[in-house]
Amino acid sequence: GAPVEVDISALKPGEKMTVEWRGKPVWIMRRTPEQVAALPKLDGQLADPKSDRTAYPTPEYAKNEARSIKPEIFVAVGICSHLGCSPTDKLQAGPQPSLPDDWQGGFLCPCHGSTFDLAGRVYKNKPAPDNLEVPPHMYLSDTRLLVG
Ligand code: FES
Repeated sequence: GAPVEVDISALKPGEKMTVEWRGKPVWIMRRTPEQVAALPKLDGQLADPKSDRTAYPTPEYAKNEARSIKPEIFVAVGICSHLGCSPTDKLQAGPQPSLPDDWQGGFLCPCHGSTFDLAGRVYKNKPAPDNLEVPPHMYLSDTRLLVG
């Protein structure tokens, strides 16, 4: 499929948009500075905090703590690495079914309960075998992103 050009200028901190690329949903989220700062603190709870697993190889330019080119902008394929359901946003902390009380925000797969942080990193002891895929992408300008 052809690459998809996306205008991200309207994306506000904490917001996520979805575009379609190769028939798959691709999420683009502008994380807040607080959300980015919280990512390293979660490493101990995650199955593959450094994205070393290779089922969905993370591009070199996103092999960092935020799994992104720009720390605030997270780009990921919104498809669970288990059996292909689409995780839903669980951005709020606090008590919710299937989320721990110290939840820092992220995504929950409704099919078998895999949880992912705001960098798409899967929590330990969940059925999903890998982090969410980061698709190939690059910036054409500050506000224009090319996915694919
Ligand atoms: Fe997501 Fe099974 S498809 S946990």
